[in-house]
Amino acid sequence: MERVAHLRIRTARHLTPDRLAKGGVGGSSAPLASGARAIADNRALWLNAKRAPFTIGPAPYAAPGPDEIVVRVRAVAVNPFDRIQQTMGDIITPWITYPFVVGSDLAGEVVEIGSGVSRFRVGDRVLGYAAGADKRRNRAAEGAFQDYAVVLAHMAAPIPDAMAFEDAAVLPLGLSTAACGLFQTDFLAMNAPSAAPAPRDETLLVWGGSTSVGLNAIQLAVAAGYDVIATASPHNFAYVQRLGARLAFDYRSKTVVADIVAALQGREIVGALAIGQGSAAACIDIVGACKGNRFVALATPAASFDDVPAGRGRLRRLLPAVARMIAGNIVLALKTRRRGVRTKFIWGSDLIANEVGPMIFETFLPTALAQSRFVAAPSATVVGTGLAQIPIALERQRLGVSATKLVVTL
Ligand SMILES: NC(=O)c1ccc[n+]([C@@H]2O[C@H](COP(=O)([O-])OP(=O)(O)OC[C@H]3O[C@@H](n4cnc5c(N)ncnc54)[C@H](OP(=O)(O)O)[C@@H]3O)[C@@H](O)[C@H]2O)c1
Repeated sequence: MERVAHLRIRTARHLTPDRLAKGGVGGSSAPLASGARAIADNRALWLNAKRAPFTIGPAPYAAPGPDEIVVRVRAVAVNPFDRIQQTMGDIITPWITYPFVVGSDLAGEVVEIGSGVSRFRVGDRVLGYAAGADKRRNRAAEGAFQDYAVVLAHMAAPIPDAMAFEDAAVLPLGLSTAACGLFQTDFLAMNAPSAAPAPRDETLLVWGGSTSVGLNAIQLAVAAGYDVIATASPHNFAYVQRLGARLAFDYRSKTVVADIVAALQGREIVGALAIGQGSAAACIDIVGACKGNRFVALATPAASFDDVPAGRGRLRRLLPAVARMIAGNIVLALKTRRRGVRTKFIWGSDLIANEVGPMIFETFLPTALAQSRFVAAPSATVVGTGLAQIPIALERQRLGVSATKLVVTL
């Protein structure tokens, strides 16, 4: 057993040839091109069982199904969701079958394409949303934290030559979560983004504008023609405004709710995207006091599980967090009823199964990135190189970041 920082790295004894073969089933595919050598070489950051420590070990090379591509991963970004999968996976993603590979955000080169894929060629530089943890996928081969990952072709986009893999990797989950909240018909159902959007006289409130989800939401809403106002810490005001927010407010200010309500007087709202602890209650109060679509799309649960460990001391932290979650949801339910506001919690991978996924990754993003109408945000901070750096990045993420995304190169 090898120790890397606080993390136990074990040899992957669980990966019997049988299991490797089982995980390798991928469906029909085009002939292997330059990816052939990869079969022997793939390695992954494994979660062997629920709440297990991460371990690095060999992984099967999975051939792509008809609608999939295989990407040689060059950079991954880490997300709160990836981190919580280790400590809370049995509760938030109970369908997962172990051993499993987590990770949502990747960028790299296409090494193999499925028989039904015409958008990509071997060698293309792409970013992709690794959807392995989604209930409809539940597949280790589709986790980002490995050298070769399978990606749904409609959840990948080519990246411009000038864009580094490290920068491209910050986009997929933040962008997808924002798009789910803004464009899905059972959420804010906003107009699609385009190169020449017709200006709309409606305002979107993005609470948590400097988060990864928020910076993508601001850009998407502006690209769809909407007016946007956002919250952030004052040191990030210039950033959120550069990406398109007309006004920025400090979410820690005691008067922030009243200030935003005042700023929205006489305007029509298209709703709010609530990101960050405390965002839901504030957004319900604001939207409830405004004219227009009284709908709040919720990205953040009512309580944080960030401090719940996978092992020792778990129950001592978990029970109060669950109690806070239940109490928080009751308070929000009462608030929404009193204010006449509707809310719905976003599941950031839902777009893989509806029209929003292709609308973003196929129609909008490729040209928007190529023409610099959409930028990779937040900016990447590279933690290091190699799979062993990922748990270190996840822990840094837990301790808190401000308007940056932690990235590991592979
Ligand atoms: N539902 C889903 O499917 C889904 C998917 C992805 C993410 N999420 C959730 O969305 C949230 C953001 O995730 P992320 O990856 O975008 O986060 P992130 O980029 O790591 O968030 C960092 C930012 O959070 C901001 N922040 C901290 N506390 C805040 C608060 N109380 N209110 C508003 N902003 C606050 C900070 O802003 P300043 O530095 O400006 O203070 C910082 O820039 C998390 O709760 C995450 O779990 C949900």
